[in-house]
Amino acid sequence: MLNIITLLSSYLIGSISFALVIGKLFYKTDIRGYGSGNLGATNTFRVLGKRAGTTVAIADILKGTGACLLPQIFNSTVSPILCGILVICGHAFPIFAGFKGGKAVATSAGVFIFLSPLGTCTAFIVFLISLLTSKYVSLSSILASISIVIYSFIFEDKLIIALSLFISLFVIILHRENIKRILKGTETKVGKKK
Ligand code: G3P
Repeated sequence: MLNIITLLSSYLIGSISFALVIGKLFYKTDIRGYGSGNLGATNTFRVLGKRAGTTVAIADILKGTGACLLPQIFNSTVSPILCGILVICGHAFPIFAGFKGGKAVATSAGVFIFLSPLGTCTAFIVFLISLLTSKYVSLSSILASISIVIYSFIFEDKLIIALSLFISLFVIILHRENIKRILKGTETKVGKKK
């Protein structure tokens, strides 16, 4: 029973869409109707500004890390990796927001902070270098997720490698529209309004 509660809670925590909650509560705005329409930190930045975007990014990261701590909190035997997968799925397919959520980058970072802090630091550096040079958050997110796979192959065990592969593939699939826009040259760069 404790295991089921742990797994269910992971998905439900992931389903709390902070971009939607903060947008509606403090800005009376449903960001799904603006910018890329995505329920994530990047679109919150774009539509509602720096403070809201940073808050959503931190909250999305914390829910990823928080879900991995649930087995300890509930004293259950579930693997934090499974909780990580479920919180990421909850974020991307939230039951509280019509199963259409964000692109899982910040929440995946939160999961990886718990499982592989150094791997996350590496991915963050890749993200920053890519962002500074390309100005595309989406491309930088994809490259960061790929860098986690490479890092995991070199330094982590089989389970973390499998999780990194799952996350990277998931993130790339969720960014498929961004990829099309990058190829067409129509993807929004940071600092530019959509
Ligand atoms: O984390 C999501 C980001 O990589 C892209 O977001 O709103 O530009 O589709 P967005």
